[in-house]
Amino acid sequence: MTRIYLDNASTTPVEPDIVKELLPFLETQFGNASSIHAFGQQTRNALELAREELAKEIGAKPSEVFFTSSGTEADNLSLKGVVLATLGKPIQIITSKLEHKAVLETVEWLEKKFGVAVEYVAHDAHGRLDLDDLKQKIRPNCLNLISIMHANNELGNINPIKEIAEIAKSYNAIFHTDAVQSAGKLKLHVDELGVDMMAISGHKFYAPKGIGAIYIRTGVQIESLLHGGTHERNRRASTENVAFSVALAKAFKQSQQNLQQTNLHAQLLQKAFLDSLSELNVPFSLNGDETNKLPHIINLSFPIPTEQKLAGDVLLLALDAAGVAVSSGSACTSGTAKPSHVLLALGKTEHEARASVRVSFSKFNTIEEVREAATRFADVLKRLL
Ligand SMILES: Cc1ncc(COP(=O)(O)O)c(C=O)c1O
Repeated sequence: MTRIYLDNASTTPVEPDIVKELLPFLETQFGNASSIHAFGQQTRNALELAREELAKEIGAKPSEVFFTSSGTEADNLSLKGVVLATLGKPIQIITSKLEHKAVLETVEWLEKKFGVAVEYVAHDAHGRLDLDDLKQKIRPNCLNLISIMHANNELGNINPIKEIAEIAKSYNAIFHTDAVQSAGKLKLHVDELGVDMMAISGHKFYAPKGIGAIYIRTGVQIESLLHGGTHERNRRASTENVAFSVALAKAFKQSQQNLQQTNLHAQLLQKAFLDSLSELNVPFSLNGDETNKLPHIINLSFPIPTEQKLAGDVLLLALDAAGVAVSSGSACTSGTAKPSHVLLALGKTEHEARASVRVSFSKFNTIEEVREAATRFADVLKRLL
């Protein structure tokens, strides 16, 4: 049985071209980018070129781009960084219950540890944010830090980032966006979007896992979370990961050049998959905002009767046994799969959330593959519906 990988929103395979780009920095060009000798300077140059390349793609200055170990770290650095730089002054964070845990748990930690006030923007059953509610939640006489993701990792919903940025600007708020899922799928230009901080992660667009970046607009004050050196202009101490930073910048550039093609391909895959499910008489409903979403992510619920008592990730495991890798978007805590916090926030019951899966495509998936996956879905669901 061939295995079909449709969990690309979790991580993508690394593009073979990108592996070629990064290998020299693991083999011959291994110098420490902070050393002053020629070995170090060689890798320093490569690192700074990667920074310039990435900065150019997102319309930023190289001095506004910082490499991190992941999207999670980029989110942590921006949110904790601003709060720590503002300690003693009034601050509140405004976010939404639909954010990735990298934002939600960071915000919860800041609330618990430092008493930072946190507000959550209201949304409807499709995950569309209520911007009037956002405006109402902005408080005068305090720094408002708004964190709203560009595209939702479980639903694919695209949030109205430009409108949120305008609201943020009119209230002098700082606006952070987690663009981890939109990177490689949508144009990311920091001035066009109007964001002050933006997080991305290499492994969502064919670079390796373990490398991310954060854009921080000049003038936004943040404290470093890692101490021990002056790396990344004092924002992040630790020896730079040149190989993966180079890979991230190259992969990002490539993905930006192929946006149209990538999205068209994803639309075709999505249509083929959903049409096949319908042809096979599999009942399903789609979650999220069908009118405004990334085409490579679909979130489906199946009307599995409650008598089926879906414990944990039963549906995912059954699909995995049938050779189809998809996800629930749930976080696994010590082996106990919790239902998706995003689907629960949309008003689904635990059972409904467990009867839902996220299917996500990459440029490497084919129409034949997704049709075959739909057939395997039908076989698995026959036993549960
Ligand atoms: C929206 C979003 N933010 C943050 C992250 C975390 O990124 P990383 O895996 O690089 O830590 C992810 C990963 O799934 C994500 O989808």
